[in-house]
Amino acid sequence: MSGFAGKRVLVTGAASGIGLATARAFAGAGAQVLVTDLDGDAAARAAAELPGAVGLALDVTSEPAWAAAIAAAGERLDVLVNNAGVAEAGALADHDLTVWRRVLAVNLDGVLLGLRAATPLLRRARGCVVNVASASGKKAQPGAGAYCTSKAAVLMLSRVAALELAPDGVRVNCVLPGGVETPMWARQPFFKDLVAEKGGEAAAYAELARDTPLGRFCRPDEVAAAILSLAGDQAGFITGAELVLDGGYTA
Ligand SMILES: NC(=O)c1ccc[n+]([C@@H]2O[C@H](COP(=O)([O-])OP(=O)(O)OC[C@H]3O[C@@H](n4cnc5c(N)ncnc54)[C@H](O)[C@@H]3O)[C@@H](O)[C@H]2O)c1
Repeated sequence: MSGFAGKRVLVTGAASGIGLATARAFAGAGAQVLVTDLDGDAAARAAAELPGAVGLALDVTSEPAWAAAIAAAGERLDVLVNNAGVAEAGALADHDLTVWRRVLAVNLDGVLLGLRAATPLLRRARGCVVNVASASGKKAQPGAGAYCTSKAAVLMLSRVAALELAPDGVRVNCVLPGGVETPMWARQPFFKDLVAEKGGEAAAYAELARDTPLGRFCRPDEVAAAILSLAGDQAGFITGAELVLDGGYTA
C-alpha cells in the first residue's frame, strides 16, 4: 500500500496501542511519520522499526513541546493525528480536581494545542486532522466522567474546527472507537482485578465486550485503518464527521 507516499504525518501518543498501530499503518502506506509520545525513548524505539519515521518526545499539554515538534516536521505536514489520551476513574460527586484537570488537559487541551500548532503547515498542504475521540463521548459511563466529558468536548471541538478550516481546504474528522485492546486497560485497577478473576486478559476483554453487539473488543489496527480511511484522498469531501467503530455498542 503506498497511498500516503510523500506525505508527512504526525501521530501523538504513538508509542503504544492505537497510536503505535496508526504510525505503523501510515509508514506501511508510504508516509514519513513523526512518531511522538510523552515517553520520548519509547517513541524513538517505535520509530526505529518504521521506514522513514522519526521519534520525538511530545507532551501534548506543552506549548513549547508542540512548537518543537512542528519545527521538526519542517516545511510540510499533511496529516495530524491527535491520539494521545489518558483515562482515570472517578465518580463526579467527589471527583479529585487534580485528576479531572489532568484528563481534560491531555485529552482536550492537547487536541487544541496540536490543532493550533499544526494549522499553518496544514493550511499550506491543504492537509487534514483526525482526532481520536471515543464512543464514551456519546454514551455516558458512570465512574468515567472526566474521560467521557473530555471526549464529548473533542467531538464538538472537531466540528467547530472543521467549519473554521474548511475555507482553507483543511479537513477535520474524528474516530470514535468502542473498547480497544490496548495497554490503557491494563493500567486500570478494575481491569487488573477482572483479569485475575477471569484468569487472563482475553477472558477479561470478553467479559467487557458482553454488551457489544459484535461480541468482542476492537483491535488497534482496526482503529488505524479507520484513521487512514479518513486521512486519505478518497475521503476528500468528508469533514466534521464522526466515524464510530464500536461493534454496534452505541447503535
Ligand atoms: N483503548 C480503548 O478502549 C480506547 C477506546 C476509545 C478511545 N481510545 C482513545 O485512543 C487513544 C489512544 O489510547 P490507547 O488505548 O492506545 O492508550 P495507550 O495507553 O496504549 O496509549 C496512549 C499513549 O499516549 C501517551 N500519552 C499519555 N499522555 C500523554 C501526553 N500528555 N502527551 C503525549 N502522549 C501522552 C502514552 O505515553 C501512551 O503511549 C486515547 O485518546 C484514548 O482515549 C481508547
